[in-house]
Amino acid sequence: MARWKETATRCSTLPLRLFLGVTFVYAAFDKLSDSHYLAGAGDPASFVAQTEAVQDGSPIGWALGPALHSPTLFALLIAFGELAVGLGTLFGLWGRLAAAGGAAISLTLWLTVSWNVSPYYLGNDLAYLMAWTPLLLAGTPLLSVDGYLASRARRDRARGLAEDAVRRRALIDGGIAAVAIGGAGLLSGSLTATFGRDRKSVPSATPVPGPSEGAGTGAAVTVAASAVPVGGSAQVKDPASGDAVYIVQPTAGQYCGLSSVCTHSGCAVDAPKNGQLYCPCHGSRFNAATGAVVNGPATKPLPRYAVTRNGDQLELGPPQS
Ligand code: FES
Repeated sequence: MARWKETATRCSTLPLRLFLGVTFVYAAFDKLSDSHYLAGAGDPASFVAQTEAVQDGSPIGWALGPALHSPTLFALLIAFGELAVGLGTLFGLWGRLAAAGGAAISLTLWLTVSWNVSPYYLGNDLAYLMAWTPLLLAGTPLLSVDGYLASRARRDRARGLAEDAVRRRALIDGGIAAVAIGGAGLLSGSLTATFGRDRKSVPSATPVPGPSEGAGTGAAVTVAASAVPVGGSAQVKDPASGDAVYIVQPTAGQYCGLSSVCTHSGCAVDAPKNGQLYCPCHGSRFNAATGAVVNGPATKPLPRYAVTRNGDQLELGPPQS
C-alpha cells in the first residue's frame, strides 16, 4: 500500500501534463486549420478582429499594437507557440520551459480575452494559468525526455565524467530532441496551415464589403440575396461601428441582421450553424433567427439590424433597439 501511494504521488502530475499537452497541440492545429483565424479584420472570427474586440477592455491593450500591426505574424506565433508548448509538455522535453511558455500564453489570454469575464472564475484562461503552476514547479521528470536525460546524467557522473561534460552532453542531446520534435511539429503545422484551412469555411458566407463598399462612406451596405439561402448567412460590416454583422434568412423571405459581437464579453461569435451562433470564448449560444440567448453566460441578446430586400440585393438597415 505504501509503495502504491508513493507511485501515485510520483505520477500525480501526469494526468495534468497529458491534458495540457493534448489541449495545446489541439488548440494549435485548431487555429492553423481554421480558415477564419488568419482572415482579415472583416471576419469576426479572425485573430485581428478578436484582438481589436478586446483591446479597449484589456489592461495590456497598449501592448497589442504590434500584434494588430502584423496580425498574421502574431497569429502564427501564437499557434506555433501553442504547438511547441504542447509537444514539449507531452514529450517532457525541457518541461519547465514548456510550462513557462504555456503559463505566458495563458496569462496573455487571461489579460485580454478573459479579462472582462464576470464572475472571474468563468474566465477559463485563469484556470489554465493556474494549471501550469505544478508543472512549472515540478518539471516533467517521469516518462519523458527530461527523465531519460537526467538518468543518463546520473550514470555519467557515476562513471566519473566531469560535471561540465555531463551538462554539455545533456544540453546537446536535449537540443537534438528539440530539433527533431520541433521540426516534426513545424512541418505538420505548416502543412495544416497550407492545405487544411478550408475545413471550417462557411459556404454560405460572402466576403465582408470593404470601405469602398459601404463602411464609413455613407453608401448602402448590400449583399446579393442569393448569398443568403434559408438557414444560411452572409457577412457584412456595420458602416457606423465597423463591427461584422451576419445577415440571415431564418425562414423563406424573412431577413434580419445580427451583430457578431457577443454581449457577454465582446468576443466575435461564429457564423450561424444549425440555427445558432456560438461564441468560442465562453460558450454562449444565440438563436440565429432572433439573436436571443440560448445559453449563457451571456444574458443579453445579440443586437439586431433591419434588412430590406431590393430586387436581388439585400440592404443592411440601422440597428434596432
Ligand atoms: Fe463570453 Fe462570448 S464573450 S461567451
